[in-house]
This record gives sequence, C-alpha cells and structure tokens, in this order.
Amino acid sequence: MSTRALDAATVEELVSAAAAAPSIHNSQPWRFRLRPDTSTLEVRADRSRSVPAADPQGRALHLSVGAAVLNLRVAARHLGRAPEVRLLPDPAEPDLLAAVGLAAPAAAPAPGTERLYEAIPRRHSSRAPFTGEPVPPAVLDELVEAARAEDATLRLPDHEETARLLELTAEAERRNVTDDAQRGESRSWIHTGETPPFGIPVDALGPQDQAGRLPMRDFSAIHAAEHRAPAPFEAEPRLAVLTTEHDTPADWLRAGLALEHVLLAATVHGVRASLLHQAMEWPYLRWEARDPHQGPGYVQILIRLGYGPEGAATPRLPVGEVLDPS
Ligand SMILES: Cc1cc2nc3c(=O)[nH]c(=O)nc-3n(C[C@H](O)[C@H](O)[C@H](O)COP(=O)(O)O)c2cc1C
Repeated sequence: MSTRALDAATVEELVSAAAAAPSIHNSQPWRFRLRPDTSTLEVRADRSRSVPAADPQGRALHLSVGAAVLNLRVAARHLGRAPEVRLLPDPAEPDLLAAVGLAAPAAAPAPGTERLYEAIPRRHSSRAPFTGEPVPPAVLDELVEAARAEDATLRLPDHEETARLLELTAEAERRNVTDDAQRGESRSWIHTGETPPFGIPVDALGPQDQAGRLPMRDFSAIHAAEHRAPAPFEAEPRLAVLTTEHDTPADWLRAGLALEHVLLAATVHGVRASLLHQAMEWPYLRWEARDPHQGPGYVQILIRLGYGPEGAATPRLPVGEVLDPS
C-alpha cells in the first residue's frame, strides 16, 4: 500500500471490525474519530452506554474497548497497514482510551494475521453446554501466548482451583440476582422480539447447569417464564483466568486486548468461549479470585473454553452511529 490517506471505505471496514468485539452486556461503549491529518483513529469511551451497577469503576468498559482496539489492529494489518497503538495517549483526556496511527504501510504481511482477521465475525460468546472434550495442550499453549503478547497472563487452573473459582462465581451470581440494582440493570440489556442494535437478544442466552456446578449468568433472573430448562453441562470445565500485573486503566485496556486475542485464537481452532465476569463485580470476591500461589496479579475475567454449538450472533450499532465526524 503506497498511499497513507485513509478513504471512507477503509475507515468503515476498520470501525466495523473493531465494533464486532465483545463488550459487557453488548453495551458497545466506544466511539471512533478519524484524524485525517495524521491518519489516526481515536477510540473514546462512550459512557452513555456504561453499566454502573455491574461496573462502577469502568473497568469492564475498558476491557470492552481494549477488545475493540485489538480487532482494529488486526484489521489494519489485514489492510496492509502497520498500526501504532497508543493507550491513554493524553492524560488531560482520560476518555480518549486509544489512538491508533495508521499512516505507515506494513513492511511485510504479519504472520497469523489473516486467520485472526477471519475469526473476527465468527467469534461469538457461547453460553451453551460444552461436550467435555478437552482442549488440546498445544491450543491452550497458543492461547497463553496470545495473552502474553498483550502483556497479560492467562492462567489455567487445576481441578481444585477451578472448583474454588466457580464457587466464588456462584456466590457473585447469587448476589447479582438478589441485588435490585444489578438484577434490574442486567435485565434491561436483554431484548425480546424487535431488538435494538445493542444489548443481548434473548435467543443468545443459554440454560442453567442442571448440576449447579457452572454458574452461568442468569440475565433473565426476574422473568422466570423466559428460563430455559436446565441442561447438563460438562463435568470438568476448562477455565482460563486472565490477569494483569497491575490494576490501572491501562492494565484494563491491555486485558481487553489480551481477552480478544485469546478469543480470536480460540475461534481459529474451533474452540468456543463463555465469559464469567460475575465475581469481578464484587470487590471482595474479585480479590479472592487471585491465586495466592501464583504471586501478585489482578484477575480481570474468567473464560470458559470448550467445544459445542456456535454462539448466536448479537447485533451491533451501525458504523455511522459510533463514528464521529472528523
Ligand atoms: C468485560 C466483559 C464481561 C462479560 N461478562 C459476561 C458474563 O458474565 N456472562 C456472559 O454470558 N457474557 C459476558 N460477556 C459477553 C458479552 O455479553 C458479549 O460479548 C456481548 O453480548 C456480545 O456478544 P458476542 O460476544 O457474541 O459478540 C462479557 C463481555 C465482556 C467484554
């Protein structure tokens, strides 16, 4: 690519790839703006779509935006650019979460980019039971490497530690469904019938675990009629724990980049993923989720990995509604 300017079609392709990222409750809390003079795409937090009961600090918002930045980077490489990502580039503007410089052409195709790029539209959160077939060690190693590439750590807990993390998640889930603010908020993002371009269609939800072992988030807690019949889930869930060394907004963004890198790499291998964020929403439970044997580190999210049906697609806001005029 010789030209450095970004035409409208390229910007649209970049923003639409970014917006395909996962976000808490499919809130899509991001906005984009092109700076044509420097061919830079700025990524801002959109706090009008924040989820204050579940995420009072905006930590999950940063994770969501970080995931969008990873997609933007992958799409830029696919388009022959060498993206330069700066996180929190302006201390005077804390809602400017990232600036992605796109002026430079890529010297050579980045290995692995195409497979990740193709995985962007195929990645969906899955809330269904998995088959129980183990994820091969070589694939897990690749996911660990994907997190490390973004300065985060993906830990693979053993049986005992998995049981402990699931119990913390179950406790968080119990609190979430009995806390008025949490329950009302999560319910407000679930849509039946005519769905707006944000939030989660009821068809994308899954059943609860018949054995009560896997505490899947009960988005429909106050609408019993929408509950599906409980179903058997895998007996030995494969969890992965995403952690960062520190816990600043920049770490939360890095965790989001790492989360999406892991999820795209999993998608490449046909591995499905569910996100279990409940324990992160209660400070004591989040603190307890740290593994004291692994040294310091802040848990950012739990990921459940396995094989099963593809998750349902969820809607996205049109590019025009998240792209501000230059
Ligand atoms: C920070 C974060 C936390 C999330 N927490 C949960 C969760 O606890 N339970 C769940 O089922 N999905 C969770 N999700 C997944 C979102 O609901 C999902 O990304 C969104 O609905 C869009 O759907 P998609 O991932 O299939 O594109 C989370 C996503 C993010 C980024």
